Amino acid sequence: MTTIIASVTEAEQGHGVATLKLRPQEENKGEEPPYKYAHLLPHFSADRYPPLTPFEHVDPGHRALSHPNPRSFLDSASSVDELTPHLGTEVVGVNLAELDSAGRDQVALEVARRGLMVFRDQEDFIDRGPEFYREWGSHFGRLHIHPTSGHPEGFPEIHLVYRDLKKSFNFEYDDAVTPTVWHSDVSYELQPPGLTTFFLLAQPKSGGDTLFTSQVSTLKKLSPQFVAFLRTLKALHSGFEQAEFSRGGRRGGTVRREPVEHIHPVIRKHPVTGEEALYVNRQFTRRIIGLKREESAAILNFLYDHIDRSPDNQVRIRWRPNTVVLWDNRITAHSAIIDFKESGEARHGARITPQAERPIPALDGLDLSL
Ligand SMILES: [Fe+2]
Repeated sequence: MTTIIASVTEAEQGHGVATLKLRPQEENKGEEPPYKYAHLLPHFSADRYPPLTPFEHVDPGHRALSHPNPRSFLDSASSVDELTPHLGTEVVGVNLAELDSAGRDQVALEVARRGLMVFRDQEDFIDRGPEFYREWGSHFGRLHIHPTSGHPEGFPEIHLVYRDLKKSFNFEYDDAVTPTVWHSDVSYELQPPGLTTFFLLAQPKSGGDTLFTSQVSTLKKLSPQFVAFLRTLKALHSGFEQAEFSRGGRRGGTVRREPVEHIHPVIRKHPVTGEEALYVNRQFTRRIIGLKREESAAILNFLYDHIDRSPDNQVRIRWRPNTVVLWDNRITAHSAIIDFKESGEARHGARITPQAERPIPALDGLDLSL
């Protein structure tokens, strides 16, 4: 376990800039080393970003399809375990940081097929630092720059989560009976993320796990008649609430790009595997276009309840130190588990979030305008 010895003071507000200052922890008698990843703590700049512009995404998983053995990047693994039959593979013995371009293409394809991959013992990857993170992520798509979250100073492409005894820079509901909020990251963007990389730099001794669910499996549990209806639907995804949360002074208190809303198909098709996945989530989806208010609410609430109470579609990842997790945000949803507040321990993580294509409707020709 890593212990943060530089404690985080109140975010300083001045000239519209919130900057974290570090000070030595009074209790530290010099026997603890300084925090190894202090340079990756959240920084909130006063920068303002223009709207994102569309781009053509070419998924690297396509290239791996023509490889004679698209799983050869796993040849050096000492173990490859399926976490469940339909979601998640845990790998020991593969150094992600050493993979060449073809190996990274294979990673993209395998994550698309399995939804989620967990790579243990990735100290080399984590210790290569933010320039490497950026280079790694750029292989998989244009890197998303988050409109509100903290990032390492000088590296806005690295999205950070952070919580300790005094501060939280996460988007969390503190007035709900559970902190579980299933979502696909920034699904309000026109081109939401595809293959996503996340790892923890500091973590509590116990707790702070992450839940994942397969939106492919979630969909497969529904009747063909209902799925056929869902294929005809599109829904509004909104970033406004997340922005308001920050404007309210929380999470660093900054909004660097104006929030957006976009319409996506309720069922999307993966560009490489062709698999269909449910693409609505409680955090960002607001309503189904074209239905009456009550109809939209009834269908969305049914789908959210189905996601919530289907452990047969889910896995729960324990963050042993030096674990790197990759998931395909197009076909999965996830939620942090905030169960360690009382311990006062820090949880500090970094996410690399390449954007992918505009979601492809499962129903050919579905009109995605309002
Ligand atoms: Fe997330």
